[in-house]
Amino acid sequence: MILQCNPKAGYVAHQAEIDAAIKRTLNSGWYILGHEVEAFEKEFAAYVDIPHCVSCANGTDALELALRSLNIGTGDKVLTVPNTAVATVAAIERAGAVPGFVDIDPVTYTMSPEALEQQLNMNDHSIKAVIAVHLFGHPAAMKQLAEITEKYRVCLIEDCAQAHGAALDGIKVGNFGEIATFSFYPTKNLGALGDGGAVVTSSLKLVRRMQAIRQYGWEERYISSCQGINSRLDELQAAILRVKLQYLDQNNAQRQAIAKIYTTELGKIPEITLPQTGDGYNHVYHQYVIQIKGRDQLKTFLQDNGIGTAVHYPVLIHQQPAYSDHASLKLATAEQLNERILSLPMFPELDNSSIETVIDAIKQFYQGRVK
Ligand SMILES: Cc1ncc(COP(=O)(O)O)c(C=O)c1O
Repeated sequence: MILQCNPKAGYVAHQAEIDAAIKRTLNSGWYILGHEVEAFEKEFAAYVDIPHCVSCANGTDALELALRSLNIGTGDKVLTVPNTAVATVAAIERAGAVPGFVDIDPVTYTMSPEALEQQLNMNDHSIKAVIAVHLFGHPAAMKQLAEITEKYRVCLIEDCAQAHGAALDGIKVGNFGEIATFSFYPTKNLGALGDGGAVVTSSLKLVRRMQAIRQYGWEERYISSCQGINSRLDELQAAILRVKLQYLDQNNAQRQAIAKIYTTELGKIPEITLPQTGDGYNHVYHQYVIQIKGRDQLKTFLQDNGIGTAVHYPVLIHQQPAYSDHASLKLATAEQLNERILSLPMFPELDNSSIETVIDAIKQFYQGRVK
């Protein structure tokens, strides 16, 4: 079976170094908020090229910490896209705010600046923030989004869970909004061997708030200065992430090399719409997503031929049972694309023969129609 994603391969590729990091941590006798977490936060901030990083337990908590540090909560509305991990919206609700949805750009699958401006122009003063998601590894149109959010005086938050290392005009994602969040879920471009998350920002004030909120509201041990939660990255995951961070650029380059082969070969099949990268964008291919008519037939055919694929995401958030309040919304572009998208196998260790098998199977599916 060719897997759609394979976090174990990322462990096996660096097993000796990861095992040594785990052993070092176990032997240190310090398992929560110690040297490994501190070092990882510094190293990750340096990687993103931003002054501060506050780690936490996962990417959903990272968004909650970001929102709460910006004082966004009850009575506020936060806009995001309908085609994201439901985690983005769950975090808005955990912060006490309500979500609103903005349609997407048909080429990049990320928030449409025009659709955002239309919504902000409607004088809904409860809108306090916008969460742009760099979906599938392609940065959202951050320059336009930042101009619009500045004009309407709302906060801009980047959800970088799928885009570690992606960049726009040479500037890494994480640097475009007031604050940005990451997930280190095992399948991410930078994945832990368990859960993990982080927030990055250049504001020391926000750092101090998030450091308190992530640990019971403590600014001083045992004294809560605000309402907090428990959301800490543990020392073991931090130690593992420190190893894997060293290979992130190499892994992203491997993803881009795989994408290039897919693009060259699948570009010969007219029925397939390939992923596109805008000028100046560095796409890190968290997913390689094609569009086709009859998506489910191709998915089943590939499955029957031992090839795993995925649909990210099968049901848009505003159409899910938990969000039935938004069911009457019409988000035409997102709704139209959602019938057609398919994520092919994509992980840095995917070997050439597997890539060839995937391509051959897709060609076989369209046999007779290949130019
Ligand atoms: C876009 C996006 N945002 C947020 C998250 C939440 O991350 P986590 O699963 O670490 O809570 C994810 C990951 O699933 C994601 O893909």
